Amino acid sequence: MQINIVNSYDELSAKAASIIISQLILKPDSVLGLATGSTPEGLYQHLIKKYNEGIFNFSQAKSFNLDEYVGLEPTNPNSYRYYMEKHLFSKIDLQAESIHMPNGMAASPEAECAAYEQKIKDAGGVDVQILGIGRNGHIGFNEPSVDFQATTHVVSLDEKTIEDNARFFDHIDDVPKQAISMGIKTIMSSKKIILLASGGSKAEALYEMIYGKISPSVPASILQLHKDVTVICDEAAGALIQGK
Ligand code: PGA
Repeated sequence: MQINIVNSYDELSAKAASIIISQLILKPDSVLGLATGSTPEGLYQHLIKKYNEGIFNFSQAKSFNLDEYVGLEPTNPNSYRYYMEKHLFSKIDLQAESIHMPNGMAASPEAECAAYEQKIKDAGGVDVQILGIGRNGHIGFNEPSVDFQATTHVVSLDEKTIEDNARFFDHIDDVPKQAISMGIKTIMSSKKIILLASGGSKAEALYEMIYGKISPSVPASILQLHKDVTVICDEAAGALIQGK
């Protein structure tokens, strides 16, 4: 695992962007694994800026998002589809048919999960997967007591995650209780993983992920076994790993 503790959120975002940009310059038809949440917003801003400068483009790339809430229409501002359109897709040249996200409105979420997993396989797997980390050590919506062997599946959200995500909704009861998420097995199949963490609320989870026991109670701890993980965190998130 390669660990980078940088001075600021902006530096974190720029560093993550540079990895994606070099990936797309060297392999324009790369398969990108994308994430939502507050953490990757700066990364997407940096990517858009450099894209506008003409340094690279997304015209041959494909994308697969980590997760989506069950029961939210893509037009719902809290859906991850909406987030992705707003923060990235509407501003770059990634082709509509190359964008993949789990459909949270699917009549059969289970069938949707199987189809999504197959599409990732058919695309040749994810080349670079972006991840955030939850305060509870989740990655995607793979919550504590995760099944490490799961592929894309329907998950019930953890209380901590519902609390954390309530800030985006009018009321905590409006937060969906279920989501479709790539599983740990899906994530571990990515060729390269970039995990981003910003702010002191992530310090403990990050420490446990890197130095703790590999355990389903900290889903991200499985990343200790992946061959190519780059962690980029700011000083607050990296506070407990500084000098280790
Ligand atoms: P955040 O979420 O980027 O909004 O902190 C990260 C996560 O829960 O994976």
